Amino acid sequence: MNHPIFDQVIERKGTNSVKWDLNEKLFGHEDVLPMWVADMDFMVPNEVIDAIKERLDHRIFGYTIYPTSLADSIMTWMKKRHQWDIRPDWISYSPGVVTAMAMAIGAFTSPGDKIAIQTPVYQPFFHIIERNKRQLVTIQNRLEDNQYQMDFEQLEKVLTPEVKMFILCNPHNPSGKVWTKDDLTRLGELCVKNGILLLSDDIHADIIIGDTSYTPIASISEEIREQTLTFIAPTKTFNLAGLQASSVIIPNRRLKVKFDHYQSNKGISHLNTLGMVGMEAAYVNGEDWFNDFLLYLKENIKTLTHFINENIPKLKVIQPDATYLVWIDAREFGLSDKDLQRLLTEKGKIGLEPGPKYGPGGEGFFRINLACPRTTLNEGLVRLKTAFEGL
Ligand SMILES: Cc1ncc(COP(=O)(O)O)c(C=O)c1O
Repeated sequence: MNHPIFDQVIERKGTNSVKWDLNEKLFGHEDVLPMWVADMDFMVPNEVIDAIKERLDHRIFGYTIYPTSLADSIMTWMKKRHQWDIRPDWISYSPGVVTAMAMAIGAFTSPGDKIAIQTPVYQPFFHIIERNKRQLVTIQNRLEDNQYQMDFEQLEKVLTPEVKMFILCNPHNPSGKVWTKDDLTRLGELCVKNGILLLSDDIHADIIIGDTSYTPIASISEEIREQTLTFIAPTKTFNLAGLQASSVIIPNRRLKVKFDHYQSNKGISHLNTLGMVGMEAAYVNGEDWFNDFLLYLKENIKTLTHFINENIPKLKVIQPDATYLVWIDAREFGLSDKDLQRLLTEKGKIGLEPGPKYGPGGEGFFRINLACPRTTLNEGLVRLKTAFEGL
């Protein structure tokens, strides 16, 4: 399937891109093909560009309030895509999901408090817990038949009233797992029973490509909803990470007031004006672009899976239900993570995310980003083959 937008290779080198302009620093080679950090190599919907251009034409960028149309755009999107009815007074804003989660840690826990996460998981989860001097509690997800599952035996043991907060990643990064409603109900009820506040990082929730539909954990029951903060953003969905705009859905009034006060006391009280404009335009007018993106992504995943099965069968692709990130099991090669990384960067000349970055359970894996034109993907696949050739 060809596509006029997604097939276009756009030069990103020289744009201060984290993905494209740090090769030498991160991988030691300028000619590495970067397929790591989670942004897309695709241009964003024209409707977003038009809205930003229109705002630019005004030529004044003073302090900006949140328009009611912004909350409306979030509510309409969440209702249409995820059948979740949210209310305008549940919405807070933040420059980013990681920022907002760090704020929630500050607002609702104290140094020394225990915060639980499920590994392997997105690396900043570790940072915002440990660097804020909270105690990290990890529960490893179980890999069964190439599919990740929550380990309820461990969860039941570990989740006690001593744990103050649980940070869920739904869909999960890096495994691309969409947790089922049953999993989430069981987890949510465990948190309610033990008085554990739930932070649910749902930044990848729009990018659903498998058969399991996404359930916002806060939508499951009133009890879970009252104990949950849900973090969403248009930044993964529409490739707007540099615009820094996200929102937090906090139905419990007491928690919302506390979160808002904490964030404002830390000096965060506005979003970037262009971020707001981009967010609203994307939610209101970006859906056709996004639906096309999902189709293109599914083809990219098929292409990768077929290539690996044919050419590097010792690698096992964990089929994602969501996200444009694919988690790959390289354990059959029996390499140390250092050797694996060296092969990828020095022999294959491909820049990927090493599994150990994601904590316990990440050893022997790596993560690849498929939000790129098919020609870039094909080039990456050839490099991947080169990396493992002869082993
Ligand atoms: C699970 C998850 N949460 C948060 C983020 C980053 O969000 P933000 O840029 O809004 O801080 C990412 C980016 O890859 C992610 O994968």
